[in-house]
Amino acid sequence: MITGLDQRTSTIGFTRTRRTRRTASLRGLVRETHLSPSSFVYPIFVTHGKNVREPIKSMPDQFRLSLDQLRNEAKELLALGVNSVLLFGIPASKDASGTEGYATNGIIQQAVRVLKDTAPDLTVICDVCLCEYTDHGHCGVLSATGEVLNDESLPLLSEMAVTCADAGADIVAPSDMMDGRVAAVRTALDDANFSDTAIMAYSAKYASAYYGPFREAADSAPQFGDRRGYQMDPSNAREALREVEADTAEQADITMVKPALAYLDVIRQVRDLTNLPLAAYNVSGEYSMLKAAIANGWLEEERVILETLTSIRRAGADILITYHAKEAARWLAVHD
Ligand code: PBG
Ligand code: ZN
Repeated sequence: MITGLDQRTSTIGFTRTRRTRRTASLRGLVRETHLSPSSFVYPIFVTHGKNVREPIKSMPDQFRLSLDQLRNEAKELLALGVNSVLLFGIPASKDASGTEGYATNGIIQQAVRVLKDTAPDLTVICDVCLCEYTDHGHCGVLSATGEVLNDESLPLLSEMAVTCADAGADIVAPSDMMDGRVAAVRTALDDANFSDTAIMAYSAKYASAYYGPFREAADSAPQFGDRRGYQMDPSNAREALREVEADTAEQADITMVKPALAYLDVIRQVRDLTNLPLAAYNVSGEYSMLKAAIANGWLEEERVILETLTSIRRAGADILITYHAKEAARWLAVHD
């Protein structure tokens, strides 16, 4: 008599997915998603001073670096196969319009020159936003009543993009979330003869609590109110697709979803919508929460970090902007 069990283990049998999980080599053969340091972008905080390597308390193993520290940093990154950096500046002084952000000799413009001088092959991306440079901490300029003005902010952001391009930046990344900024930046770059400088648009940038540690690192917290009037509502996904469509029409070269982990569904939907290269920003709070659990011995460091980065790639991101870039590259080098 044939029992149900016998039927299921017969030669035709049921679907056996475990056959291809048996050995490391078989698992490698059928692996769908790969991590490669060449798709990592490492964010760097640049500050004035000499020999400064100041730890950021809320982000273990991340530092504010002075210009002289950048040469070694660039060499270390290239040796690891991490070929791209995203620069954030901490200015000497702040004012209402964020002057140091678009100054020819601002901290970020100087950093680009140092990096390009040391490592011409390193892809240098400049975050374009005013919040690190304004005394009020908002991403654009304000009206008399404290509203963030859209159209009045565009020329300043465009000027920041042009001065970064002039210093040698390969890519500028507007993160301010003003409407029309990609078109404004593109036009300004073209008019200044920087038609080869690419734009990575923070298209779907959410008003997220996960930016907390970054704001300590970059000293860029808004001094009043919040960013909900210009960054996206975490409840919305279709709106993210509209943002991507708008930035595509305005000639963005790369589009971005930020943060990554709480928005993996958005990454997937944007992936299915666009053929542009897609970046995901694994932000400061996402980094710090893993590091905190790891420090407590609650999570296994290498496994949880590589699993997390893989999940962002699997969701559809081509490019991973991550503070884990260096350690992940080290682990990948051991295994490959
Ligand atoms: C500037 C900017 C922020 C981040 C990247 N660019 C902060 C913000 O919007 O408040 C956050 C990055 C991170 O948390 O790692 N607008
Ligand atoms: Zn900003």
